[in-house]
Order: sequence, then structure tokens, then C-alpha cells
Amino acid sequence: MSYPQLQALDLSQHYGPTPALDHLSITIDRGESVAIMGPSGSGKTTLLHALAGIDVAQSGEVIFHGADRPVSIHALSSEQRADVRLRHFGFVFQQGLMLSELTVVENVALPLMLCGVDRASAQQTVSAWLNRLGLAGMEDRRLGELSGGQAQRVAVARAQVCGPDVVFADEPTGALDSVTSGEVLHALLESSAEHGTTLVVVTHDESVAARCGRTVRLRDGQVVSDTAVTGVMAP
Ligand SMILES: Nc1ncnc2c1ncn2[C@@H]1O[C@H](COP(=O)(O)OP(=O)(O)OP(=O)(O)O)[C@@H](O)[C@H]1O
Ligand SMILES: [Mg+2]
Repeated sequence: MSYPQLQALDLSQHYGPTPALDHLSITIDRGESVAIMGPSGSGKTTLLHALAGIDVAQSGEVIFHGADRPVSIHALSSEQRADVRLRHFGFVFQQGLMLSELTVVENVALPLMLCGVDRASAQQTVSAWLNRLGLAGMEDRRLGELSGGQAQRVAVARAQVCGPDVVFADEPTGALDSVTSGEVLHALLESSAEHGTTLVVVTHDESVAARCGRTVRLRDGQVVSDTAVTGVMAP
């Protein structure tokens, strides 16, 4: 029997009177690419953080199903959630949240080192990822010495390097021009499709959503539409 990769059940989160999440439920299957859209303040980031176990919603439940048994994210301590994030999830944020004083190689190798991968295999994996993302030759540059698009491709490499089950991206191309944004998105979609990685992307950009398999639209913390995208463009 196959289980959904992620299930959010009846999530609610209030900051003051307006709900950021209002009894929201969503099921995401393994290998799906899902765009989360909606106006500013509609709850997209709050939902992403709840699905990824960065935060725990005030009520409801999130079930993550990796290779083995399902895990109830809400039942975990914050240390256990950090461990699930490290071992099963990858992240790409709008501004990268990379360590600007570290080099490209050091940034991408970091999650592998945290997972206990030895230095030699880490180096091999990292250089394979940098090659495929067009970053060969930039290994020793510090993040501050890269363009926005290059830095986001480093973020994509870092998110994928441990072979995560799910990559979560919050407006990964929000700070980029449309050409560079297309390149970064291509890298993200292609690497996810190749590895069967589930992808959850928060975006304001319809062209980004058009390249995902499904679009979920939020308003006031609720799902107002959930549609499969037909004729998805190949990444
Ligand atoms: N830490 C917080 N403290 C107080 N209110 C918050 C907090 N985080 C989010 N909110 C509120 O919750 C609602 C949803 O916020 P969220 O960041 O999820 O929106 P969003 O859809 O990601 O918006 P944007 O497109 O602007 O990023 C907003 O009204 C926001 O002001
Ligand atoms: Mg947001």
C-alpha cells in the first residue's frame, strides 16, 4: 500500500484575530510538485513551515511518511523535528539563507557533514551537484561573491545534496529577474523530477506554478482551489 508523503489535517494557527491557517487540510503524494499560491498574508509561509516541521500549528496534525513508518510531526520534540528536517527535507528560501562567509563547497557540504557523511564521499557528491547546476569552477568563492541566480543554484544544490524526500521552497526566485528565475526553477524541477523528490513551492509567479504538477491557492488560511496542471511543461 502506498501512503501520501505529507498530510496536513485540520491545521489552525492564529496570530491575533485573523487566522493564518483556518482548519486547513491538504494531502501531498510522493513525487508531486505543488505550487502554493495566494495573496500576501494568505498563510502560504505559515503552511510551508507547518508542513516542514519548522513550526507546529496551534491545532491539527501533520503526518510525514518517509521510507519507513509515518511520523506525526506534532508529537515530536523540537530536536526530533530538526532531525527529521535534516534527514528528510531540503529547503530553498527567497534570500537563500546561506552562510555568506563560507565558500560554495562548504555551504553545499554542510548538510552532508551534519548527516555524518565522510569528507571524501561528501566532496564527490558536492562536486557532482555543482557540475550539474553549472557551478563548476566556483567552488572556492564565498557566497557574497556570486550573483543572485548563482547563489540560488547553490541553495538548490544544498537542498538536494542529502537526497531528501521533500524539498520546500518559499519564493525561491522572488528576488531574481525572469531569465535567472527560469534557470533556478529549471534546476529545482529537473533535479527533483530526476530523483522523484516531492516539491512544495510557494510562489507569486504564475509561470512558476505552470511548471508544477498542481496548484493550491490559499486565501485567509483556507484552500480555495486545488487543481492539477494539465500539460505541465517539462522541466
Ligand atoms: N510570527 C508572526 N507573528 C504575527 N503574525 C504573523 C506571524 N507570522 C505570520 N503572521 C500573520 O499570519 C498571516 C499569514 O502570514 P504568512 O507569512 O503565512 O503569509 P504569506 O501568504 O506567506 O504572505 P507573503 O506572500 O507576504 O509572504 C499574516 O496575516 C501575517 O501577518
Ligand atoms: Mg510568505
